Amino acid sequence: MKRYSPVLVALHWISALVITIALFMGFDIAALSNELDLKVDRIVVHAIAGIMIGCAFLLRLTIKWLRPSSVPSYTKRSMVERVAKIYHAGLYILVLAVVISGITMAFKVDFPNIVAQGSTLPDELTFLVSRQLHGLLTRILLVAVIIHILASLYHQLILKDHLFTRMWFGKR
Ligand code: HEM
Ligand code: HEM
Repeated sequence: MKRYSPVLVALHWISALVITIALFMGFDIAALSNELDLKVDRIVVHAIAGIMIGCAFLLRLTIKWLRPSSVPSYTKRSMVERVAKIYHAGLYILVLAVVISGITMAFKVDFPNIVAQGSTLPDELTFLVSRQLHGLLTRILLVAVIIHILASLYHQLILKDHLFTRMWFGKR
């Protein structure tokens, strides 16, 4: 079976790990009161992780676009493969939309200034459209990732077509 190039494999697994951390960290942060200083510190870490995820996804897209040979081609073009391609494109769009909504909300409350002045978050943050959108999109992303994991386990354990090999290191 053909594989993704090592760079794409590394970017997939690093982003998968950081996205999982960012998701759980985000839900934890959201439960804190806006008046707490520590919420600002946690959002700084969360925002850096989120921006890194965005960069990793843009880098993946650029590599795929500039070097189509870094992506393994399918042997036969079945309906399932077409659905998988569309689903993966959806994951890209979803991740980038989560990152953009996060950055938008941070700028709406002038987050860099809040950090510089050591102040706390304004209450209006909770009611911003970008904040509501970020919350909704992250929940959709969580469900989409769970479906993605179940689909790859279905391939690996039931269909036994070694799909994991495509997304792992080794001779191409
Ligand atoms: C936050 C978590 C994850 C995200 C956002 C994600 C996203 C993606 C995307 C966008 C692709 C398509 C690759 C491309 O064509 O560029 C992909 C492929 C793949 N992912 Fe994930 N993934 C995640 C976690 C996982 C996990 C935990 C597993 C395993 C349990 C997994 C297994 C795979 C496999 C086997 C492929 C290759 C599928 C193929 O070649 O058709 N992914 N993933
Ligand atoms: C893929 C990247 C990201 C993921 C998976 C993610 C995940 C989350 C989650 C799950 C929440 C809680 C939502 C809720 O319970 O309604 C959240 C909240 C938040 N995120 Fe992100 N996020 C990402 C990127 C970003 C970025 C890039 C920024 C800013 C630059 C950001 C800033 C925030 C802020 C300010 C909150 C709100 C806290 C609150 O209102 O209490 N996020 N994020």
